[in-house]
Amino acid sequence: MRRFRASDVDDSRAYRDDPEFARFLPHIPQPFTQAHAEAFVRINMTEPWDTLPTFAVVLDGRVIGTVNFEIAGEVAMIGYALARAHWGRGLATEAARAAIEWLLAEHDLVELWAATQIDNLGSRRVLEKVGMTLVSETADSVRYSMRL
Ligand SMILES: CC(C)(COP(=O)(O)OP(=O)(O)OC[C@H]1O[C@@H](n2cnc3c(N)ncnc32)[C@H](O)[C@@H]1OP(=O)(O)O)[C@@H](O)C(=O)NCCC(=O)NCCS
Repeated sequence: MRRFRASDVDDSRAYRDDPEFARFLPHIPQPFTQAHAEAFVRINMTEPWDTLPTFAVVLDGRVIGTVNFEIAGEVAMIGYALARAHWGRGLATEAARAAIEWLLAEHDLVELWAATQIDNLGSRRVLEKVGMTLVSETADSVRYSMRL
């Protein structure tokens, strides 16, 4: 896992141009064009690293996903997304665990939380596997949290 580079545009477009990948992520346009990919990489390279870090998840030299945090004071939110070709192998859990380890080493926090759609069962399972627990739910979304 590493920070984004300008050369990550093609890899990013390749996995993000996929309606099934974006099924639970309505903010990701489909089709995901070259311009979308360029903007995505540019944002990940320029957002403030101390509050909005986004890691590129790299496998065999290619970017296959992201783990990101939104850090607000002593509380952080985690998000992640992985290319469909690599689902079901434990990689999102491994990447999230590594990113959380980094987060704990770099920041003094009291809580990590995440939200996802109620029927995003794979994502919910990842949150459970990294040690988070369900704290609230609405008709269509769930919130998980972990004290740090
Ligand atoms: C959600 C996502 C990150 C999971 O990535 P992954 O690498 O497949 O995750 P892992 O293999 O580490 O773990 C997935 C777990 O969910 C389980 N799972 C996956 N799909 C499931 C389903 N439909 N029903 C029940 N469990 C499911 C897997 O069995 C696994 O649990 P296990 O290890 O106990 O068997 C990936 O599917 C993804 O990027 N989706 C698109 C983006 C997204 O939805 N991101 C989350 C936004 S909040």
